[in-house]
Amino acid sequence: MEAKRFHKAMTFFYSKPVFSAVLIVFPLVLLVIFLSAGASISQRYLLPTPRRIFSPMEWMGKSEIWSVPRLSEWRPCDWWKDQYLLALPERTNGYIRVDCYGGLNQMRRDFCDGVGIARLLNATIVLPKFEAAAYWNETSGFADVFDVDYFIQQMRGFINVLKVVPDELASKEPVRVDCSKRKGPFDYIESVLPSLLEHRYISITPAMSQRRDRYPFYAKVALCQACYKALQLTKSLENKGSKLLAAIPKPFLSLHLRFEPDMVAYSQCEYSGLSPFSKEAIDATRGDRKPWTGDVARTWRKRGKCPLTPKETAFILQALNIPTNTNIYLASGDGLLERDSFTSVYKNVYAKSMLLGDKVLEMHGNTKAALDYYVSIHSDAYVATYFGNMDKMVAAMRAGMGFFENTFP
Ligand SMILES: *[C@@H]1O[C@H](CO)[C@@H](O)[C@H](O)[C@H]1NC(C)=O
Ligand SMILES: *[C@@H]1O[C@H](CO)[C@@H](O)[C@H](O)[C@H]1NC(C)=O
Repeated sequence: MEAKRFHKAMTFFYSKPVFSAVLIVFPLVLLVIFLSAGASISQRYLLPTPRRIFSPMEWMGKSEIWSVPRLSEWRPCDWWKDQYLLALPERTNGYIRVDCYGGLNQMRRDFCDGVGIARLLNATIVLPKFEAAAYWNETSGFADVFDVDYFIQQMRGFINVLKVVPDELASKEPVRVDCSKRKGPFDYIESVLPSLLEHRYISITPAMSQRRDRYPFYAKVALCQACYKALQLTKSLENKGSKLLAAIPKPFLSLHLRFEPDMVAYSQCEYSGLSPFSKEAIDATRGDRKPWTGDVARTWRKRGKCPLTPKETAFILQALNIPTNTNIYLASGDGLLERDSFTSVYKNVYAKSMLLGDKVLEMHGNTKAALDYYVSIHSDAYVATYFGNMDKMVAAMRAGMGFFENTFP
């Protein structure tokens, strides 16, 4: 099954009709390299066999949106595992805590990177610190989202994981090692190993500029196993997620419509035609991130840096022949702006709050994001209006299960 599905993989297409908007079905090459085989995921989640409810052609009508052959090779990370999984060193070089910031999927990405780094340094990893985004006004940790025991068990042989550091270190906070100083490729052995050996217990936030491609295989394998196999939602979140999934009429498309005030402010894009309410909400979030103007603004927009408005999203989905009666799960934050300009066109729209009721209000931002992630990796199709951290993670997990109907207009 895997081979065949991976053959259908990774389509890269453009659609001529109506406008010559170029659509990319996630090239995601990096993530893909690390992908682990999806069988265990679909077995673990509630799906007896991967669902393929729509015939994509039928669903997409004339635009043949899903039918163009893939351009890149997809290989689950299992292909190197047996060959390159080295015995763990007998002595640890020390203990590393990964400190993660931002949204759920950004934290997850950084944690996965951190596992690779810790293995590279022959260190032991302790549970990460999850520092939820300030705008969520909350404290919810790693263990509120991910199943800790499952993680530890799945990482056996890949890297040593501890829930807490050994007694002699337990009284201290880890020494923070700054990985962000340099702009160029970040070398952990040169920059971090000496501090690790000196202090024995350090915390890091992985640098974006690292060169993962230069890692030895055993470090890549640890990263891969952590990110795509060992991180499962807690039982309680999975139960909520599967209830939510069951409540959505099928087949359905999951739409990550990213038009909350923080996103718009972050993008530094200017939009015309928004309601006074939206403008105010966006301005309140902008801080010193002023919108671009003039030529810079035009270039920025042409480079696809501006998240689609709900109105533009409805327009594009229609242009792609996605019928307006399609069931759509709205994977969006609470503050979605201009929602009506989407729901006045696409009427069968479902959100967490509609399906789970008041229970959703009690949930943290991170756990709500986890539900959107859960539903999105199991949906019949996935569309995101911005190519952010969640979108990369969802697309990678879906590809691992053979679900390739993903677009990022
Ligand atoms: C880690 O251990 C491996 C052997 O398992 C060794 O080849 C490598 O040099 C060690 N790296 C560091 C940074 O200690
Ligand atoms: C943040 O949370 C606290 C306690 O839960 C609450 O009293 C406060 O109103 C919240 N602030 C915002 C901006 O939501």
